[in-house]
Amino acid sequence: MSLRSWNPTMVAQAVLWILLGLLLRLEPGTATLPLLMDSVIQALAELEQKVPATMASHTASAWLLFAQDSGHHDLLHHFLLEGQNLKATKLDPQQLSPELRGLTKDVAQHGIRGRLEYGVVLAPDGSTVAVEPLLAGLEAGLQGNRVVNLPLDSTATPLDAGATFPDTGAVVLDVRATSPRLRDVPPDGASADVGAMPPNIRATDLDVKPTSPCVRPGSPDVPVTSPDVQASSPGAKARSPTTVDSLLVVTLARDLGLAFLQSPQTWSHSGLGTEGCWDQLSAPRTFTLLDSAASPVTTAFLNGALDGALLGDYLSRTPEPRPPLSALLSQYYGAGVGGDSGLRSNFRRQNAAALISAPTLTQQVWGALILLQRLEPAHPQLRGMSQERLFEVATNATKEFTEAFLGCPAIHPRCRWGAAPYRGSPRPLQLPLGFLYVHHTYVPAPPCTDFARCAADMRSMQRFHQDTRGWDDIGYSFVIGSDGYVYEGRGWHWVGAHTLGHNSRGFGVAFVGNYTAELPAKAALHTVQDVLPGCAVRAGLLRPDYALLGHRQLVRTDCPGDALFNLLRTWPRFAANVKPRTARRASRRSKREPPPMIVPATGLQ
Ligand SMILES: *[C@@H]1O[C@H](CO)[C@@H](O)[C@H](O)[C@H]1NC(C)=O
Ligand SMILES: *[C@@H]1O[C@H](CO)[C@@H](O)[C@H](O)[C@H]1NC(C)=O
Repeated sequence: MSLRSWNPTMVAQAVLWILLGLLLRLEPGTATLPLLMDSVIQALAELEQKVPATMASHTASAWLLFAQDSGHHDLLHHFLLEGQNLKATKLDPQQLSPELRGLTKDVAQHGIRGRLEYGVVLAPDGSTVAVEPLLAGLEAGLQGNRVVNLPLDSTATPLDAGATFPDTGAVVLDVRATSPRLRDVPPDGASADVGAMPPNIRATDLDVKPTSPCVRPGSPDVPVTSPDVQASSPGAKARSPTTVDSLLVVTLARDLGLAFLQSPQTWSHSGLGTEGCWDQLSAPRTFTLLDSAASPVTTAFLNGALDGALLGDYLSRTPEPRPPLSALLSQYYGAGVGGDSGLRSNFRRQNAAALISAPTLTQQVWGALILLQRLEPAHPQLRGMSQERLFEVATNATKEFTEAFLGCPAIHPRCRWGAAPYRGSPRPLQLPLGFLYVHHTYVPAPPCTDFARCAADMRSMQRFHQDTRGWDDIGYSFVIGSDGYVYEGRGWHWVGAHTLGHNSRGFGVAFVGNYTAELPAKAALHTVQDVLPGCAVRAGLLRPDYALLGHRQLVRTDCPGDALFNLLRTWPRFAANVKPRTARRASRRSKREPPPMIVPATGLQ
């Protein structure tokens, strides 16, 4: 293949193969670049410069094929992401700059050892992102987000992938080059029945229907799946999946399924989506998880998986010439929330919820587990598992993911915004609580629209509350930025100082800004009206019959501002008949309120 015949997509694919290969091949080491998304973007830009010359004689897929570490993880990547156009040879690592080589070592593979999470970087929006599922999604998207047929009857004819791979590119099944959008991937029932086909015979083209009753039409404005929309349509259990979607499987479905296979989890905060803390934010090096018993499906992993799925979906739908990956990622992770919110890391959960319906994901998790079982008949977790059992795992995993991650707001933990320690001993709340009290911060008056600004606002409010007011900590339970994120104040478990006399009965939630005459951003309003309380109710933190009140209903204050308060009055959970006087009597009865809670009524504007 001559150099001139390389089109931009092939270059983009080659860049990814090199990076993916480097990730698999290299041992964790000492990077010279900080573990920031900007470093990854810089690395991609460097590869984009070098690949055309490099690829004339080398092919990047070699890095995957010769990867020493080819556990089941890699096998599935190889199988689904086989670079059909790229012939394997070698890329000399010396051609890459030391910085790039160091970085690729440090983000090699996603993993957890002890409390440390590896393979993650800090993005400009303050989120932490696993690089491996992100790159896998980009690669799958560049290949057109393929629907890959599953051979049937796994136990009778296991795929002998271990033996034949890599020389033959494994048993490559029928791979259709159509580029379905994820939301259009039919649940299994919608495809033609290829049940009678032996595994290695190509099925004729499946009849892919563009829509299906089970697939939710996506709309970025309808963010969160209703948790009771469940995957198991009556027909779904009856037959096994016949296809998998390469994009969803390599980003999300495989790991979700395996994590739940390993330890079936019920709804919890401690398993799915564990957050962590960076040693420092300017030049981050190590990432320590907040929960020692975290499942591999951490918040950072899920962030990377969703970003990979969203960007991969975008690439698969974007005609040539596609943007260079470094430019695409710069835009996606760019600070702030201007421009297209449909392609922004800040809104990844809403966008992913619009893209991936629960029935689709259940099918893909199920399909991924079945495919893994066939690729690796001796897989310790999958051996002997029936398809029915795997379907149950897929259903539970999807439900958990949908309810506990997609259906919850993205909350930056205290360490992310640089919180000072709590002073004194926090008092635990008696959960679940029955109220949500809404505030505006008033000062700072401008809404914060990027991570740097919101985090700085959090620090300044905490300083004011601790040093000037003399409180133990920032008063609010949570603070809502206009950047798509919620910032943890005292959190779900500790009594706050937000609504005098009522702090142990409700969570105090404040919008950053002065909403006397204006309203908060739509996404921020949606978070407080629906997402945050919905998530808290499912988690048992807030009572299902909770009421929502404005600060001014309980305390003599203008908070949360006329404009915002007038809007709150129209919300279904707004408790119109709560009178301040009732509230005061209640507060006098509560003798357990400690002295620091007795603050001027106007203390929290
Ligand atoms: C799935 O969830 C149900 C209900 O919580 C539970 O009874 C069942 O054991 C779970 N199955 C698996 C395989 O985790
Ligand atoms: C808040 O907004 C109101 C109405 O626009 C304005 O009169 C007031 O000065 C603002 N306060 C601050 C602290 O910005």
